[in-house]
Amino acid sequence: MTNSSIFPADFLWGGATAANQIEGAYNEGGKGLSIQDVMPQGITTPRADGPTDDNLKQVAIDFYHRYAEDIALFAEMGFKTFRFSIAWSRIFPLGDETEPNEEGLAFYDRVIDECEKHGIEPLVTISHYETPLHLADTYDGWVNRDLIGFYERYARVLFARYGARVTYWLTFNEINSVLHAPLMSGGINTPKEELSKTDLYQAVHNELVASALATKAARELAPNAQVGCMILAMPTYPLTPDPDDVMASLTTERTNLAFGDIHVRGEYPGYYLRSLRDQGVDLVITAEDRALLKENTVDFVSFSYYVSVADTADESKRVTGPGNLFPGVRNPTLKASEWGWQIDPVGLRIVLNQFWDRWQKPLFIVENGLGAKDELVEVDGRKTVIDDYRIAYLNDHLVQVGEAVADGVDVMGFTPWGCIDLVSASTAQMSKRYGFIYVDRNDDGTGSLDRFKKKSFDWYAEVIRSNGASLTR
Ligand code: BG6
Repeated sequence: MTNSSIFPADFLWGGATAANQIEGAYNEGGKGLSIQDVMPQGITTPRADGPTDDNLKQVAIDFYHRYAEDIALFAEMGFKTFRFSIAWSRIFPLGDETEPNEEGLAFYDRVIDECEKHGIEPLVTISHYETPLHLADTYDGWVNRDLIGFYERYARVLFARYGARVTYWLTFNEINSVLHAPLMSGGINTPKEELSKTDLYQAVHNELVASALATKAARELAPNAQVGCMILAMPTYPLTPDPDDVMASLTTERTNLAFGDIHVRGEYPGYYLRSLRDQGVDLVITAEDRALLKENTVDFVSFSYYVSVADTADESKRVTGPGNLFPGVRNPTLKASEWGWQIDPVGLRIVLNQFWDRWQKPLFIVENGLGAKDELVEVDGRKTVIDDYRIAYLNDHLVQVGEAVADGVDVMGFTPWGCIDLVSASTAQMSKRYGFIYVDRNDDGTGSLDRFKKKSFDWYAEVIRSNGASLTR
């Protein structure tokens, strides 16, 4: 049975990527090294000293040279928007220079040209897990307040250059993930086990101030811009109705919700301050910082959604499994992907309702999808992937987005993750595929890099064409 379209007429259908996971060309065009160039296995092993040939991100899917072909394929699916990130180290190769690298800026001019050619709205992430390596090595990343100024300078360059052509901006990808993946998310070189809580939460604070400064800069330099925060959403259910479990799950969930609270309300919530006190964390927060947070709140809230988790106060029942970048207590009612990520379409409706009730800000789902192994087969002389599992996953999640829209939630759009196969962030594998477009590249780096349309390509094109009416309930 199909439903008539519940989605708003201007719903922004599209797809999402990040520079380090698609571009390759890691040392071309004047680009400096980023932390991704020393993370050949993602977050599964400690960083390397320098670039190594086993790092798939050195070439990734070669978007740097094939962007026009790829954006044309997105247009063929009918994308209204394309989420990509700008590699900070293409613009400021070291991160602390005063003048940007023109060749890097020109590359993104060309990407935006292609988007415009096809009537696709760019959705730009300013910082997506690709802090310049020099900032990690010399400053210990976001632990150091100097990063605020370097990021502000970078953001100002972007708004000045692209502000007239790009409406939608995200300040930091999954800003809350710095608590769990300090190097990847916060460019923090000190190993996680050695990092003090004070340094970690100071890094969080510095990023929050930087995010507010970027919003302020956008208001000045690109008055039509809409700036959003980006949160890794992970609804946390109580494992049982025991009130202690409910409190435990609320406490865990608040570690993520705090980031939205601060971006939307412009101040630290009481429960967050209490948690800092309980952990013995004493932060440097200036009066100017407080004013910046208060005066520069976001226009919308964006988030990624892949999994939900549970939590419990009973240590003996805290059986954790993999989640999106950080683990959670397993929910016995849910199935999981091949990578152990538990699949919960209703959780997306829950998140949308919760965020809307809490913040009353437009919401943008800027990541969702199924990482799965695909098999390239030949059908009618054409290479493809019969990815019914991916279609089912996305269909079921989108049905729940429709439910949330019917609930009255203001949802701006949906950009599923890895609309074209790319290198995984957590494991740096190619074989963990999310795309509607298959890229011929293997975990050992072999492959032609040719692109092939999967079955989901036509399916998603029809979802967009029908504005969601083709979804199966
Ligand atoms: C999000 C990140 O955490 O999840 C992306 O913003 C990432 O960069 C995506 O790729 C999926 O995770 P993974 O580890 O399967 O690539």
